[in-house]
Amino acid sequence: MCGIVAYIGKQEAFPIILKGLKRLEYRGYDSSGIAVVNNDSLNVFKKQGKVAMLEEFVTDKDTSGCIGIGHTRWATHGLPTDANAHPHSSGNEKFALVHNGIIENYAIIKENLINKGHTFLSETDTEVLMHLIEEISTQHDCDLFTAVRLALNEVIGAYAIVVINKENDQELIAARKSSPLVVGIGKGEYFCASDATPIIEFTKNVVYLEDGEIAKLSLKDGLKLKTIKNETKTPFIQKLEMELETLEKGGYDHFMLKEIFEQPKSVQDCMRGRLVLNENKVSLGGILNYKEQIVNAKRIIVIACGTSWHAGLVGEYLFEELARVPVEVEYASEFRYRNPIIYPDDVVIAISQSGETADTLAAIELAKSKGATIVGVCNVVGSSISRATDCGSYTHAGPEIGVASTKAFTAQVTVLTLMAMMIGREKGTISDERFTRLMIDLDNIPHKIESVLKTDAQIQKIADIYKDSPNALFLGRGINFPVALEGALKLKEISYIHAEGYPAAEMKHGPIALIDEEMPTFVVATKDGSYEKVVSNIQEVKARKGKVIAIVTKGDKVVKGIADHVIEIPKTDDMLVPLIATIPMQLLSYHIAVMRNCNVDQPRNLAKSVTVE
Ligand code: M6R
Repeated sequence: MCGIVAYIGKQEAFPIILKGLKRLEYRGYDSSGIAVVNNDSLNVFKKQGKVAMLEEFVTDKDTSGCIGIGHTRWATHGLPTDANAHPHSSGNEKFALVHNGIIENYAIIKENLINKGHTFLSETDTEVLMHLIEEISTQHDCDLFTAVRLALNEVIGAYAIVVINKENDQELIAARKSSPLVVGIGKGEYFCASDATPIIEFTKNVVYLEDGEIAKLSLKDGLKLKTIKNETKTPFIQKLEMELETLEKGGYDHFMLKEIFEQPKSVQDCMRGRLVLNENKVSLGGILNYKEQIVNAKRIIVIACGTSWHAGLVGEYLFEELARVPVEVEYASEFRYRNPIIYPDDVVIAISQSGETADTLAAIELAKSKGATIVGVCNVVGSSISRATDCGSYTHAGPEIGVASTKAFTAQVTVLTLMAMMIGREKGTISDERFTRLMIDLDNIPHKIESVLKTDAQIQKIADIYKDSPNALFLGRGINFPVALEGALKLKEISYIHAEGYPAAEMKHGPIALIDEEMPTFVVATKDGSYEKVVSNIQEVKARKGKVIAIVTKGDKVVKGIADHVIEIPKTDDMLVPLIATIPMQLLSYHIAVMRNCNVDQPRNLAKSVTVE
């Protein structure tokens, strides 16, 4: 959702920013723009649509200059038009600003500014902030750093901003509150971006701005940091661990496909150093300091959104089965507004791939204020959620660029499995024998995922048969019910086919009315505790002439005899089935979306990191 890139140094800014914006395309957007300063003039280029359209638009224009700011906008206030695209200039055309987030009190500020003679060219809250900065800089006759700081004291809402001044090509001003911003420190140059992906090829030294911080990136004075309350701060420089190759497609047609195929490795990376087979133990260093609170928790509350919420639902089965602790899984967006009952001995697990989801962050703050222990399960290192939690375990899945979450889901489930095993072991709710068996089975999961990936050609054929279905049903029971939900979400978000996930037994309470010979039903029917029941549910679909595509355990004969198609997956412990059963669902959605000519990596209307509520 919205992306910022900015540069100041000795190189041409425009190509660096343009490339950076392309790296941020995965976040989701509908217009883009870049402003550069060159010889005291401010040149702003903006275009509705993809960054490629902006690139085409500037082919005959002078984009030179060594300082600039760029933006990809995901529309909130006003349509995705050229006028509403960022950067926005001040009325006197001296400054330009890019902004992620929402200024909640923009309407009242705008009215005041109009009364003072300001006129606006867009419908955005961002342009209002730009004019407020201009107004303050004129009124107080102060430098841009001070004007931005004073303006931010007047706004309510969330922001990550970068501002340039055409009369000073030696500095950029950046600030953040509830929306991420990373500063990259090169040799005689600075970068600024919403995440590290546009920066990594230039420098690994970064500073993650904290909420309420404002930075001056000056070629003369270096990096200066203050709070918006005017307290001086010392920048904390960190080294990025990310590698550039992880941001490329590496020969695959889409990031999503690459990420699906990376899962044997990402699950392995997630377990590395944590699943200690020779010592028969699980070791999660990031939560050790809070082990006592976690093991003794009377209740676990999981908060998350989307796919991460589905991982949380799998976690519910894992924690209840292995650690015998009651679990509630909450949509962060509902939890934060529900006045929920939270006790200090509750443990709240916040799951988020991006670590920036606004609702999950707000839910964390609420739970924190009630004294609960907050554990994070995030993929993006240094993200806002990873910093807002008391402790946590990174998923180590590597950058996930496709908007549809795939490898992040299996990594989240892997972390939750490890946590449940660790707590169960400590509490004695899991026998030595089961623990050892689970360790071995978990260790084998990457190989099993590899073998499921080999069914890709078969899955492609099934996709071809059902690609034109307007609807689809996904069923699963027990720990595989969330797999059905996740399968439905994957299909709908990238192929725009309406899909519903249900616990298989719920089908007869309503969705069965939808079944006819046109309707495909995807069922997880692996050999586990509810196998016989799921077989009956499949019979019910077939009795109504529905089409059944079943994910079964290798060697299954019963379902093979009833279903229209079966996809075999290897046998594993019942608790680990979601880690492999989810793979065929991902591949099915991917192929169907490709066959329907959908933009798989950047589906319409979606954003990778949902930083507004
Ligand atoms: O970054 P997060 O895990 O917090 O994101 C949560 C959801 O926005 C995300 O999972 C979304 O549902 C994906 N598009 C699913 O593929």
